[in-house]
Amino acid sequence: MKQRAVVVGGGVLGRATAWFLAERGLKVTLVDANHHPGKASLVAGGMLAPQVECKEPSPLVPLALASRGAYPGFLERLQAVARRAVPSSWQGILVVASSEAHAEELRKQQAWQHEQGLHAQWLTTEGLRALEPELAPAPHGALFLPDDGQVDAAMLTDVLGAALQSVGVEHLVDVPAERLLTRGGAVTGVVVPGRTLGADVVALTAGSWSSRVEGTGLASKAVRPVRGQMLVLQANGPLLRRPVFSSGGYLVPRLAGSAEGHHDVLVGATMEEAGYDARTTAKAMHGLLDVAMRALPALSTASLREGWAGLRPASADGLPILGRSPISGLLVAAGHLRNGILLTPITAKVMAHLALGEEPGVDLGAFSPSRPALAAPA
Ligand code: GLY
Repeated sequence: MKQRAVVVGGGVLGRATAWFLAERGLKVTLVDANHHPGKASLVAGGMLAPQVECKEPSPLVPLALASRGAYPGFLERLQAVARRAVPSSWQGILVVASSEAHAEELRKQQAWQHEQGLHAQWLTTEGLRALEPELAPAPHGALFLPDDGQVDAAMLTDVLGAALQSVGVEHLVDVPAERLLTRGGAVTGVVVPGRTLGADVVALTAGSWSSRVEGTGLASKAVRPVRGQMLVLQANGPLLRRPVFSSGGYLVPRLAGSAEGHHDVLVGATMEEAGYDARTTAKAMHGLLDVAMRALPALSTASLREGWAGLRPASADGLPILGRSPISGLLVAAGHLRNGILLTPITAKVMAHLALGEEPGVDLGAFSPSRPALAAPA
């Protein structure tokens, strides 16, 4: 008989995991509470940016680089399965130095990345202008990470949903998972309102809500939400070719969804401890507009389309939670914080290997769901 899997969480990690498990022959049900607003996948900037986000060497670096490397093949397969396109772009990402001290930090980042054989290029203000002529002058220079990229995160989420249909995953929408059921230390199912879904394998991928499912053994604060507010500006012409980090935030040219003749720029994002409050605030919107107009003065005549907030899932020590739980059959992928979209291909691959009892192919030691740091959050 086929192994039964229940995937808890309908963001990109849950959807990709469900797809991979179904392809490996499991009978899969995806339980999607559809937390929106706040579902991070739908509102993410979509940067595939291990080299920007990893400021120093850490266990995250090899995982993040492996996932970036897997992205083109992952998207190719996804588009073939779903018969839909997911816009992506590999034009690199820029980090503009805001001061001499910041430039020094960025040069250190460049140095260790060079030692690891990665491409990272220092640009003068002239070099930056050649790449992005509309950006404000950068007297302290900028770091260019040419191998980082971007994907349209909302489209990725949507197309992963289409892939689930193609591979026969049962996708239960607006259904929250309440409790994990176990017998003798092994999973037997998941309780949802009004019924129990039997399972041999449960994948917990519920983002900021992961600690709220009862019975998983995760500490109540092992995963908490970190709010990221963003806004969208619509310009009359293309102003940016690639994402740019500037003082206080970042600007991302939207790959899809712009109205004809207009060009959207996403501006993000705050990092706020606001619990499960997914509202926007005047102060944050004001700050993001300021970031945008300082970095790209031509945006001062752009129109303001919308603002939103997403709840990034943060673990107690800032590293992803990825691996087997002490409960047999329970796999966890949560706490991916600023890198959920980036880490989707490697996470789904690892989860599928673990579900089938195979070696994960990457070192998961630092990401263990049972590491002490998760039980005793600061
Ligand atoms: N990945 C960028 C952010 O989380 O704001």
